Amino acid sequence: MNKTDILVIGGGVAGLSFAIWMAEKRRDLHITVLTKTHTGESNTRYAQGGVAAVWDENVDDYQKHIADTLDAGDGLCDEDVVRMVVEEGPKRVEEIIQWGARFDKKSDGKYDLGREGGHSENRILHFKDITGWEIQRTLNEKVKEYDNVTILEHYFAINIITQHHLGRLTTRLSPDIECYGAYALNKESNMIETFVSRVTILATGGAGQVYKSTTNPVIASGDGIAMMYRAKGRVANMEFIQFHPTSLFNPAGENPSFLISEAVRGFGGVLRTTDGKEFMHKYDDRKSLAPRDIVARAIDNEMKLRGDEYVFLDCTHLDKEGFINHFPNIYEKCLSIGIDPLKDFIPVVPACHYTCGGILVDEMGRTSIHHLYAAGECTSSGLHGANRLASNSLLEGLVYGERMSIDIAKVIDSIPIQENIPAWDAEGTTEPREMVLLTQSLKELKEIMSSYVGIVRTDVRLKRAQDRLYLLYEETEQLYNTTTLSPQMCELRNLITIAYLITRCAQMRKESRGLHYNTDHPEQFDYKQNTLL
Ligand code: FAD
Ligand code: SIN
Repeated sequence: MNKTDILVIGGGVAGLSFAIWMAEKRRDLHITVLTKTHTGESNTRYAQGGVAAVWDENVDDYQKHIADTLDAGDGLCDEDVVRMVVEEGPKRVEEIIQWGARFDKKSDGKYDLGREGGHSENRILHFKDITGWEIQRTLNEKVKEYDNVTILEHYFAINIITQHHLGRLTTRLSPDIECYGAYALNKESNMIETFVSRVTILATGGAGQVYKSTTNPVIASGDGIAMMYRAKGRVANMEFIQFHPTSLFNPAGENPSFLISEAVRGFGGVLRTTDGKEFMHKYDDRKSLAPRDIVARAIDNEMKLRGDEYVFLDCTHLDKEGFINHFPNIYEKCLSIGIDPLKDFIPVVPACHYTCGGILVDEMGRTSIHHLYAAGECTSSGLHGANRLASNSLLEGLVYGERMSIDIAKVIDSIPIQENIPAWDAEGTTEPREMVLLTQSLKELKEIMSSYVGIVRTDVRLKRAQDRLYLLYEETEQLYNTTTLSPQMCELRNLITIAYLITRCAQMRKESRGLHYNTDHPEQFDYKQNTLL
């Protein structure tokens, strides 16, 4: 049994920034961070556009950033949360700059602020087009300064531990579920280890891998959200899956799909159909820079009308040096598949990008389960509502990382460690004989979600998805109960739960709002959050 004061599951922007702020506040506490692969791999690492924050107060102010966030969120954001994140965000960004994060500057020494869809001002701090890589690098370096933080890589968290594991009944309505830590598979020894802690944090990121085409790396299998749901905790708003309008259309197929940052449209890139015509003016006055739900739906519609597999992003009119300077990674990637963005149109297609719903948290990152906190993309905090505003996600991870550390510093001394946790029971299980059962089920799952629960939904498609998902669920549970655990098995099981949650929430929302568009319910009327009991 591993004992630690604070167990953090996840080493992206939310998990690691928390660990650093916490370790700084309380040098007497021991913090253990688990990551399922290595610490360099996370959604954070792939972020391109940057971090949105009110920076140049001569032209921008908090009220504008708040208004843009509320507008993108289409009536479902929690305005207090939006205000809090927008107002605290710049201070958190200043702190990571002090920790060593670099953001591009102009020749006058001021930050080069980018623009993305739905933003009324240039307010996005970025490092070339690899901002996430720079932030992950900074956090990985900074955390090494704290000898009270231990990072354990290649530890796959399977379940959080609650009273259920002590043989007591818990239901979704139990008001007093407590978390005592987590079971995790040590991928090197293949043993399942028990971690007990006073406080546990879920910072496990999103779930993009539930769709066939996604910008998310393969680690994004919604593990934290699925663990929370299994533990009978509150999860909300899962129907709001953000499709990024412009992932690179690569006929060779790749997982993840390569992102062409929205900042490219902020720099002047224009969307066109395959016959070279502009179309975004038909959908929104902001044209190619409208919020993502609108642009992705417009592209989807144009592709369906024309029977095309992609639309074009036209950058041929843009300043060559400026483009290469701002987007060196995108430029190189396009060249590598034979497209010169400054001479050829770039073929792009929407791909699953961000999970707006997730574990329900309050303003300090507290979940419905005692001693369990959550932050980052795995949460539903109220910031994003029905559609996240571009580049608000890294900001959210930083703000909640710091807020959790404040709250936990106050309460942790009164929380005991539970010593009497049973070891993981693997009795009666045998080695899986056919991995193909897992890989084929994963393919089927992605097919179901992409065909029936994509950008445009109908009641019949959602029902069909639920029926198919149930079969997959039954088959996978049977395998889970009889075979020894592997990361592939756990991920498949978690993704089936995620697919169920997305589809169920989509069925519950009898209207179209933000990222959820159902042609059987095109109107807006229901301004409620969807909390799953
Ligand atoms: P992640 O960074 O995904 O970290 C998750 C961590 O949890 C990882 O360390 C992983 O190993 C660990 N983990 C997961 N499951 C387990 C498990 N079972 N056991 C142990 N460990 C586990 N947002 C912006 O604000 N600006 C941008 O420009 C931007 N660009 C993006 C570009 C791309 C291509 C993508 C994919 C996303 C982008 N986003 C952007 C979104 C943003 O990057 C993410 O929402 C954010 O980084 C999520 O951070 P996180 O800490 O919540 O999770
Ligand atoms: C992008 O660079 O287009 C992604 C930004 C984001 O997802 O916030």
